[in-house]
Amino acid sequence: MADCKYSCATATETLEWIRAIIHFIKPSSFFWQSHVVNFLTHRLWEAVDREWIDCLRDEPIENLIQIPSGFVQEHWPCSLKQFITTLSSLAFPREQADLKKVLPNMQVALLNSVITQGMNQKKRHEIEALAAVVSSVARDVETNTVIDLGAGQGYLSQVLSFEYQLSVIAIDASSHHGRVTHERAERIKKHYEAKMRKSSLGGKGVTIPKTVTCRVLSSDMLKTLINSNDEHKQSTADTCPMLLTGLHACGDLSVTMLRAFLESQEVKAVVSIGCCYNLLSEEEDNNALCGFPISKGVKSTGLYLGRTSRDLACQSADRWKVMEKDAGLHNFELHGFRAAFQMLLSRYFPETLTGSPTIGRQGKALRRQQQSSRINGLATNGFSCKPDSTSENKEDADTCTLFEKFCQSGLHRLNLNQPHNIDFASIWKEAEPFVGVIGPYWSLRAALGPVLETLILLDRLLFLQEQGDSIEAVMLPIFNPNISPRNVALIAKKI
Ligand SMILES: C[S@@+](CC[C@H](N)C(=O)[O-])C[C@H]1O[C@@H](n2cnc3c(N)ncnc32)[C@H](O)[C@@H]1O
Repeated sequence: MADCKYSCATATETLEWIRAIIHFIKPSSFFWQSHVVNFLTHRLWEAVDREWIDCLRDEPIENLIQIPSGFVQEHWPCSLKQFITTLSSLAFPREQADLKKVLPNMQVALLNSVITQGMNQKKRHEIEALAAVVSSVARDVETNTVIDLGAGQGYLSQVLSFEYQLSVIAIDASSHHGRVTHERAERIKKHYEAKMRKSSLGGKGVTIPKTVTCRVLSSDMLKTLINSNDEHKQSTADTCPMLLTGLHACGDLSVTMLRAFLESQEVKAVVSIGCCYNLLSEEEDNNALCGFPISKGVKSTGLYLGRTSRDLACQSADRWKVMEKDAGLHNFELHGFRAAFQMLLSRYFPETLTGSPTIGRQGKALRRQQQSSRINGLATNGFSCKPDSTSENKEDADTCTLFEKFCQSGLHRLNLNQPHNIDFASIWKEAEPFVGVIGPYWSLRAALGPVLETLILLDRLLFLQEQGDSIEAVMLPIFNPNISPRNVALIAKKI
């Protein structure tokens, strides 16, 4: 597998990798098929090896938040170390590839302040790298036309258009995005026209991306759009080569792109970066057109991930790796509150649990309250640290007050009237002995995230490889994972 750094040479090797992942993760399905909100109600820690939990409950938070990235401590039980390191070895490596080495014909345009207006640092980094990759692949397959699917505000489309002189069609479901893209492009165009006039090249020849508002729901829809937007076409037999791309095209949209690539004669290459795997369609009977799995190989395993596991595939180990201790601690505290709130729901509002009640992220306000209580010399290290005895009772009372506030806000968000008899203190008292284990549990579960994402990406790679030698496909981490963790591009060309 070490040789498979950026892709597998053959479908057989990809399938071998997929099988190794499935074989390894199946026995721990209790981790990836369960939701942390049920930690207390379903006593989730009881499924985990007792020795692991006993060891990790005393570990400093700094060590716990490194687990999803594959870091272990020497003194941990061997079976625990092996679990974490095997997961890490099965995950696709995320260090940013040396793009100039992998794509020798790549030219990188440095982006000026006009075209990057409105982009944050992450977006700028993504667009700079992806636009260079797309233009290099477009040159390889001799196409000048790019379709940017799920174009959002058109950042990528505009850079491809103005900096790389490609003809671009930006498709997005949101008409608001379409308008913003168009207006932004008109503004940028003026800058480029002025620049060209100054350089005595004249102001002509600057074209803006064409925007199309459409919710693309199938490859057939996408093919129809491609055909109707092909302005170079003179007769129905004519084809104009195109490249399909999408930066963080959510859920099934990335899969639709791959299907259209295979089915459409015009589309010669695809550069796709997926995201939001939670939105993928998945059916237990492996419906032919669902978003996961799409390869024959994964379909033949009968694997069903489910929404909770696909949510987990979106978790970013790299974000945790660089997280400050306090932020990690705060996250675990919130998970503890949320799990205890689930206990409250199961007692007082059991009917709500037939759905999946979501109360959003309530972290910020709570954190401010927590910080101010800590500034006043109260809690020091959340659940896992023992404060000195004089402050212990006060800290307990404070945490319980915060829990009550958390619950009240949760009930409000769920539009539930608060009955007078809710005993917040006793729920918290019941939950408290176990919430210290939520950090270890969460960290071990999160270590499965990168492997589940790898599985979803390998399914896509295999889907392309199963078409035979006429398709060349690679997976390439094109962004710095610390800036943009969803950084794997699936690049395929017809040869
Ligand atoms: C995560 S955003 C990415 C936007 C842009 N590519 C970027 O990186 O800045 C995904 C975009 O895809 C669009 N989208 C989602 N589903 C779509 C669909 N089925 N058809 C067309 N656009 C879709 C959304 O409106 C949204 O703008």
